[in-house]
Formats: sequence, C-alpha cells, structure tokens
Amino acid sequence: MPHVADVDTVVFDAYGTLFDIEDENWAPADVVRTMRRKQLEYTWLLSLMGDYQDFPTLTRRAIEYAKALYDEYNVDVENVMRRLVHLQAFPDVEIGLKRLGDGRRLAILSNGHPDDLEQLCIHAGLRARFEWLISAHEVRIYKPAPAVYRLALERTGTPRDRLLFVSANSWDVAGAGASGLRAAWVNRTGDPPQPVGGEPEVVVRDLEELAAELE
Ligand code: LAC
Repeated sequence: MPHVADVDTVVFDAYGTLFDIEDENWAPADVVRTMRRKQLEYTWLLSLMGDYQDFPTLTRRAIEYAKALYDEYNVDVENVMRRLVHLQAFPDVEIGLKRLGDGRRLAILSNGHPDDLEQLCIHAGLRARFEWLISAHEVRIYKPAPAVYRLALERTGTPRDRLLFVSANSWDVAGAGASGLRAAWVNRTGDPPQPVGGEPEVVVRDLEELAAELE
C-alpha cells in the first residue's frame, strides 16, 4: 500500500520546486536571494492590498531592488530577466515526473505568468509532461490566496480528495493546506516546519522520494 494513496492528479509549484531559481551560475547568491525574497514580498503585499501587477513586472522591480542594494555587482537587469525564463530543472525532476505521471495527470499551478511557464517548461524539455499550466494570472491574485488553489480543482476537474499539491516552498504548502488541498512538501533544503497554515500530508527531500511514497 502506498503511503500517499488515491491521487489522480498531481499539481506542482514551479519556482524552487521544479525549477532552480537559486542557481548561482547566473547571479551572485546575495542578489538571487534578495530578488526572490522581494519578488514574493511584492506578491503578498499587493494581494493583501487588493491590487495586482503581473509577475514579470514584480520580478523586474525585485531585480531592480537587488541591483540597488548590491550596487557593487553591477547587476544586468535584462540578463537576469532572460535567465529567469531559462532556469534549470532540479536533477530529480525529470525522473520524478516520469514516475509520478505514471497513471496520473500532472499540472503546474504557479504565480508565474502563463507565457513564462510555457517557456520554462519548453526550455527544460518538460512541456509534454503537463496536461495543464495554470497561472495565478487567471484570477489576478497570488498564492497563498485561496482563489489560486481553487483554480487547481476547477481547471483539472479533479475532486479535492484525489488531488495532491506539491511545493518546495513551505509557505505555499501552508497556503494549499489552509485552502483544503492535500499537500506534499518537498523540503529540499532541510527547512524547519512552517508554524502557520495547513500541514503537509507528507514531507520528502525530492520528487523521486515523493514518487516512492505514491507507489
Ligand atoms: C510559484 C512560486 C511562488 O508559484 O514558487 O511558482
């Protein structure tokens, strides 16, 4: 008997879960981490304010912030924007998706813009694995707003108890759980548990370990 049973559809977060946004080959670690933190902060701020700007706009603002903070690095904003649609998938992703997709349907649910999600998947050679690429852009609010997680159920037509949401971002797992989704946390970095929001049904280190839990 698998530990995580009765899953028909597996829905993945994108950045940090499938695609390595902290790849330090394209910018210094300080810049990448600051950019990521600010990018998320802007999505949360706008969502709480009841306002919306698309993800590429917020990403650009976040890179500009990191550039201003670390002026010694002379960050090339356009280059970073380009790199962000050509990210590497983590090494476990290809085989993990193959195993998880065996007898199940796969989707992405991301704050990322629909065009960027397409490009990321095509560049990483993963497009054919996913039946749906679902973006928060459709509802003009960002995760962890419940309206975004509801999209996963609506767009895939999967009953709530047959869908598993998978994220490496603990705040995203907390949000999915709080919205009533079953969730798996891919704790790639050995983070302590998130103290607020919903709890994951399972915690694994990577997608291959997750596949083993479902087999
Ligand atoms: C995503 C970011 C938030 O939604 O990880 O893909």
